[in-house]
Amino acid sequence: MPEKTLPKGPVTQLAQLVEHVSGNVVPESFFPFLAEVARERRLACGFPDLEAYVKALAAGRLPEEWRKLLSAITIKESSFFRTPQHFEALEKQIIPLLLPSRHATRTLRLWSAGCARGEEPATLAMVLAEHPQLAGWSWTILATDVDEEALEAARKGFYAEKALATVPQALKERYFTPQGNGWLFSPRLLQRITYRHLNLIAEPFPSFPEPFDIVMLRNVLIYFRLASQQRVLAHIAGVLAPDGFLFLGPAETVWQVSDRFEPVDLGGCFAYRPRLASAPTPLRLGPIPPKKPPKTLPPEKKPSPPKPKPQAAQAKEVLAADPLGEAVAILAQGRLREAQEALQKLLAANPADAQAHALEGYLHEVAGRPAEAIAAFRACLYLEPDLFQARLLLAHALRRAGEAGRAQAEYRHLLSTLGAGGGRELDRLAGLPLPTREQAARQAQAALEGMNTA
Ligand SMILES: C[S@@+](CC[C@H](N)C(=O)[O-])C[C@H]1O[C@@H](n2cnc3c(N)ncnc32)[C@H](O)[C@@H]1O
Repeated sequence: MPEKTLPKGPVTQLAQLVEHVSGNVVPESFFPFLAEVARERRLACGFPDLEAYVKALAAGRLPEEWRKLLSAITIKESSFFRTPQHFEALEKQIIPLLLPSRHATRTLRLWSAGCARGEEPATLAMVLAEHPQLAGWSWTILATDVDEEALEAARKGFYAEKALATVPQALKERYFTPQGNGWLFSPRLLQRITYRHLNLIAEPFPSFPEPFDIVMLRNVLIYFRLASQQRVLAHIAGVLAPDGFLFLGPAETVWQVSDRFEPVDLGGCFAYRPRLASAPTPLRLGPIPPKKPPKTLPPEKKPSPPKPKPQAAQAKEVLAADPLGEAVAILAQGRLREAQEALQKLLAANPADAQAHALEGYLHEVAGRPAEAIAAFRACLYLEPDLFQARLLLAHALRRAGEAGRAQAEYRHLLSTLGAGGGRELDRLAGLPLPTREQAARQAQAALEGMNTA
């Protein structure tokens, strides 16, 4: 009997084990996929059925097996210069701010936690190598992941042509050399990166000889439950320099998760720094001077995380009779799975709720399911074609999926809607970091320019 038709028991148990071992919540919609992966793995290990395989895993009799299993089921969606605003802020604001206090040792230590196949640490290495003020400095990057196979790939530094689509041409020429049907990342920069296996959930959390100046923990916590997020952030707070900075993914926040950090408004995005008892005032660095966005790197979407609101307002929001608002509030706390479940119920009750479909698309996006995200945004726009933010998200998703023609058509549609004074906001998703009309128009324009010159 194929595992897909087995009673839920062993698959559910396996999902719980995966969460226990790695923090990653496996939503029920993933169970058929998990069952398929588990079927392959238990056959490879020679177990007669799934139950026996899960039992052996649970009893700790297959410690090596987690390597294969986690590699198959963790989401490795990443790209060079992902969320480009972060790297621009790093270059123009954070590094210049950190350098004076580190001038004596001329060292800078960065950590890319959850580095996937190395796109993020390689991007950091390029940004640091390009930084004129860092010439002669001994900067180093620690890059860790729970997935050993992803780490092996990262150590090789080999990437397919498509993966380099978001690397500016000048950097591509400087730091990549063609090899076979792909590109090899500069061995000189690769040397600066130490790739190491590290499960952020496993206890004890490692200690490090020196604190980190910058930690990137982007698009990892989104798959964890609140308690796991809290644990990981507490550990990160312990290894970050008191004046260091933490970057999270655009859909992640410390709001209602950890009071060890405070947000730093960088103009185009947010970072977080350790909250010091003596520094209650939020730091606001000057915005990055406006400039034409680089053609190869139009912004993905407005990256600011949901902002903290006064207690009363939060309570009111969550208790509001609007279940969609409640799903948004749950998502804002990073409880992806619960948000998804709330949304599923809502859509079952009212499949014609366009804004619920938009939230569904947003959730699929952050969970790295682009095809489903595109379908959900299309459903939203079929019901209410005027929702301009949904159209922008659809266009971005199509572009990332390599559907340039369709993406261009959606960007143009958006610009003509906004240009004619039309377009309505996703007002019931107000807790999400969505672009304003002006930002949407700018992003669409920049994306079209970038695509025309690509
Ligand atoms: C969606 S990718 C994000 C990659 C990169 N940080 C970015 O934003 O582009 C999430 C990564 O987190 C890793 N990950 C998941 N659970 C982890 C854990 N418990 N410890 C360390 N890494 C984990 C996954 O293997 C995957 O490579």
